Amino acid sequence: MSMPSTWLITGASRGIGLELTKQLLASPDAVVFATCRSPQSATPLLALGDSVSTNGTLHVVRMDVTDEISIVSAKDEVAGILQGRGLDYLVNNAGVAPQDDRTTTLNINDLLSTFLANVAGPALVMKTFIPLIEQGNRQVIANVSSALASIGTDFGREHTSYSISKYGLNMLTYKLAKERPDLTPFLVDPGWVKTDMGGSNAVLEAHESVAGIIQVVKNVTTKDAGQFIDYTGQKVPW
Ligand SMILES: NC(=O)c1ccc[n+]([C@@H]2O[C@H](COP(=O)([O-])OP(=O)(O)OC[C@H]3O[C@@H](n4cnc5c(N)ncnc54)[C@H](OP(=O)(O)O)[C@@H]3O)[C@@H](O)[C@H]2O)c1
Repeated sequence: MSMPSTWLITGASRGIGLELTKQLLASPDAVVFATCRSPQSATPLLALGDSVSTNGTLHVVRMDVTDEISIVSAKDEVAGILQGRGLDYLVNNAGVAPQDDRTTTLNINDLLSTFLANVAGPALVMKTFIPLIEQGNRQVIANVSSALASIGTDFGREHTSYSISKYGLNMLTYKLAKERPDLTPFLVDPGWVKTDMGGSNAVLEAHESVAGIIQVVKNVTTKDAGQFIDYTGQKVPW
């Protein structure tokens, strides 16, 4: 058995976060802190604890990324379990997307609540968990962004609030990459994935996207700090 790796995933109750947790736990070396807003109702996540495909160690921890008290309390719980060991990988996956909106008609409350979850949330999570990541062997922060945040990709006028929020996440990641490149903060684009957010017309199954995301996250080096990389390992234009 190789050295255990420790992971913290936000938004692990469903979608990409749940699939990340499931695939990571296939390895007996993985210790996964799967965080979610409501552990008591996260039935598929809790079921991973008893699944035959789970060989690693699962800890389900309550954390709402828009609530600083909940983030600090989650950090204390995780630190208590780690007992001086660090976190190797933090994956800021939790996110929301309001109804498709346009700049001329957007609802300001949708814009603000999306910004809170998709930008302020990861900012607070990173700030709070950096001391644990500093103690990790690997020290990687993966922020789950979207090609919709890429002006270079030019997706057009749709999804204004969501695109602004992910663009904000990109800038936040760039800023941390300049301040702390040693923590390899970078952006990963999962592609268009069949989840509650991505919808049934999406082109990728969650397991396909997540298999790629895990390879990308495991293989980044400090040279990738501040980079925007998709689930296949290709650079995404800013
Ligand atoms: N699906 C796609 O095509 C696609 C494409 C590009 C980027 N992404 C990004 O990939 C990430 C995961 O998306 P997904 O498709 O898996 O979406 P999803 O199926 O809608 O799942 C979103 C997850 O985020 C959690 N979440 C939302 N707000 C939260 C909060 N305040 N605190 C903690 N957890 C919260 C949800 O928890 P609850 O169950 O408690 O609501 C859920 O676990 C997001 O950042 C999304 O923007 C997705």
